[in-house]
Amino acid sequence: MSNETLTIALSKGRIYKDTLPLLAAAGITPVDDPETSRKLILDTNQPDVKLVVIRASDVPTYVQYGAADLGVSGKDVLMEHGGEGIYEPLDLRIARCKLMVAGRPGATETPGRLRVATKFVNTTRHYYAGKGRQVEIIKLYGSMELAPIVGLADCIVDLVDTGNTLRANGLVPLEHIADISSRLVVNKASMKMKSARMKALIQHLGEAVDRAASAT
Ligand code: ATP
Ligand code: PRP
Repeated sequence: MSNETLTIALSKGRIYKDTLPLLAAAGITPVDDPETSRKLILDTNQPDVKLVVIRASDVPTYVQYGAADLGVSGKDVLMEHGGEGIYEPLDLRIARCKLMVAGRPGATETPGRLRVATKFVNTTRHYYAGKGRQVEIIKLYGSMELAPIVGLADCIVDLVDTGNTLRANGLVPLEHIADISSRLVVNKASMKMKSARMKALIQHLGEAVDRAASAT
């Protein structure tokens, strides 16, 4: 993207919905709605600010390589990505949940190698390495809660918010790995090249986050 344009990477769904009011407070309003438009690059009311709407797990990659100057990404996704080439200047305090080990009650108390199903393979490997526990990690792309029910795994590492999905499937939270919220991420090179505009936007977003926090 050109030097003058600021490109912000977002994913559809809860991150887009929760980021919109923060962007609006910073004076940025999209012209199209990504839930109805087939466009992947959305114009905003500011001619030199564009939004790219991509898969949640792709946001850090776009920002790392500078295809987007900024992005909004869950801490879960950032932990899995590793954060290379990226600064994380702001906790937006949206899309909050917990990354947890879950399974049937007592599922992790059995001795020996645990089978763990997850889409967070790197984070899970790191977590169990820290505990010194041998695990076999089975990579899944969704519906992790099914794995212990059908005997694919002893437990899962997944996001938990209300706990409804676990309960509906006869599972319980077993271990807390991390508190999760969405973060503003920025490309390290863009931060230098477009410093004044990036800093102003980060400051406006930070003020909007503080106002939202004091209103609740
Ligand atoms: P992808 O399309 O890349 O597979 P996804 O379908 O997981 O991603 P979303 O479900 O929109 O994308 O989740 C985006 C982010 O929202 C997650 O990375 C996480 O930080 C947060 N999140 C996920 N589930 C919940 C939840 N139940 N409650 C609150 N926040 C959540
Ligand atoms: C997420 C996560 C859990 C669920 C937890 O799924 O993967 O399945 O939310 O939330 P709860 O504790 O409030 O039930 P999501 O709703 O994003 O569905 P998806 O992963 O299939 O997109």
